[in-house]
Amino acid sequence: MNDIKTEIDYGPLAVLIGVWDGDRGEDIAPEPDSEENNPYYETIVFEAIGDVTNAESQTLVALHYRQIVKRKSDDNVFHDETGYWMWDAERDTVMHSLAIPRAVTLLAGGGVRKEGNALVFEVAAKLGDPDWGIIQSPFMRDNAKTTAFTHAITVAGDELSYMETTMLDIYGRSFEHTDKNSLTRQG
Ligand code: HEM
Repeated sequence: MNDIKTEIDYGPLAVLIGVWDGDRGEDIAPEPDSEENNPYYETIVFEAIGDVTNAESQTLVALHYRQIVKRKSDDNVFHDETGYWMWDAERDTVMHSLAIPRAVTLLAGGGVRKEGNALVFEVAAKLGDPDWGIIQSPFMRDNAKTTAFTHAITVAGDELSYMETTMLDIYGRSFEHTDKNSLTRQG
């Protein structure tokens, strides 16, 4: 790992670096017979952490991020997520690893494209996919299984918005668990 972070070209990931706040979050989450709808606010910190060489032939640049999400109704943290965003310039590939303390983790892959003055990052993972997969505990596999995940982040200047969909098998049905928010870069 190279830790001369300031000399590294983070490619498209550079636009994510910083501390972002947003208070227009909308979460739709499962309940046994219906769904809950949770307005939320959050802070996401993306930190440049350097580059990595794999098998002496792949170079990745990476950001670490931490996302802390609070319910507006009681100000309690109800989602805590961390992971990395990685960029493989040679293969034109964006990778997003995430872990949440429900004992669920995944590695999503995809790309980035320009849309006007914005950059749009789109990644996806699927249970059983040999490339971009999902790992979860036996309890979650049997009771609240994550089967697919898609995530799109749009960044234009100091404005960031995202939309993510987590497909769950829970309470005997398939459920579309969604989260979206718009954030502004601090400072
Ligand atoms: C802003 C992002 C997210 C928020 C605010 C959020 C919030 C929630 C909430 C409120 C529940 C209902 C259960 C509870 O009240 O604790 C839930 C369930 C769940 N979430 Fe999320 N979630 C987010 C993102 C994710 C992501 C990225 C994943 C995995 C890829 C995930 C996986 C799950 C699973 C597996 C459950 C089922 C557990 C259960 O309901 O007992 N969530 N989430």
